[in-house]
Amino acid sequence: MNLTKTPYTLDVQGLRITLPGTARPVLDGVDLHVGARETVALVGESGSGKTLTSRSALKLLPPGAVVEGAVRVSGQDVLTMNADQLRALRTGRVAMIFQDPRTALNPLRRIGDFLTESVTLARSMSMSQADATARAVELLRAVGLDESALHKYPGQVSGGMLQRVMIAAALMGDPALLLADEPTTALDVTTQAEVIALLAELRERFGTGLLFVTHDLDLAAAISDRVYVMYAGRIAESGPAEALFARPRHPYTSALLASTPRLEAPQGRLAAIDGHPPDLRQELTGCPFAARCPLATEICDQQAPAPQPAPGEPHHQAACHHSDRLEGSPVDV
Ligand SMILES: Nc1ncnc2c1ncn2[C@@H]1O[C@H](COP(=O)(O)OP(=O)(O)O)[C@@H](O)[C@H]1O
Ligand SMILES: [Mg+2]
Repeated sequence: MNLTKTPYTLDVQGLRITLPGTARPVLDGVDLHVGARETVALVGESGSGKTLTSRSALKLLPPGAVVEGAVRVSGQDVLTMNADQLRALRTGRVAMIFQDPRTALNPLRRIGDFLTESVTLARSMSMSQADATARAVELLRAVGLDESALHKYPGQVSGGMLQRVMIAAALMGDPALLLADEPTTALDVTTQAEVIALLAELRERFGTGLLFVTHDLDLAAAISDRVYVMYAGRIAESGPAEALFARPRHPYTSALLASTPRLEAPQGRLAAIDGHPPDLRQELTGCPFAARCPLATEICDQQAPAPQPAPGEPHHQAACHHSDRLEGSPVDV
């Protein structure tokens, strides 16, 4: 493997995506950065826009999406790329682990072919079939499977196994930037821990940058250098993982942290907050969290809050009119 590969970065600026049939953008001014060799978590409850944000890095967007803003991979604007450039990007050093492995796999192709074809077909890699198979076996072992998986069809293995296959597939091309969309959701806790360790090792050994999408705050805390908390298509809070979890500046982050005891991390802890995010069929003038927020006042319904740095912490930002009232203590919602 190439130990001296160039680090890749991801820069999302002011990303606004509008889908047909909605009254407001589904992503509304998202700013997100993954630095070289950095592990960044994108956290939020289901429907907040995490998948759309991560897929935008490869311009894999729903039909009819109207896109504004900029998405750059290592400085290159992805949104203006032509078909050839996009193909090179998608078969190159940026890999994605998709949220739903069954829809990403061809049911009529053996898992072994799926694993090896990306690296034997891509001109940039042109690995021999024998080398590709050896690498596939090595990676299957790394994710807790054995080589018998090579000969199986997707329909013959469990969802958890398929998710591990997807992780192995993403690592086949030795990615410099890995976009992992809830990669461990279908796994049991032990395998989940193994996969997290594998991703951490990847970064240590090869300097792979990682955008780790999850609805699990404990996982985010365990794996990331920095965290973005997303709510209703906007970044509610972002910052170094330690600061953000110790001193949340957005009532949504605070409520998430307060909603379930730490360490136990049941699936779906984010659902523990009462109420729902605002409907996409309705326009929104103020803060999207106002209806669920214990700190909301009149201004929250009238004016969308812009991200503001915490005092003395320029890289820790929250989009809230009342951050100062939080004083780092978890709010009960
Ligand atoms: N292809 C699509 N067509 C219509 N709406 C979509 C599509 N993809 C996503 N959405 C909507 O966009 C919002 C954000 O979706 P998504 O990025 O998948 O959220 P998350 O990954 O955080 O659960 C949701 O309200 C979802 O219903
Ligand atoms: Mg998703």
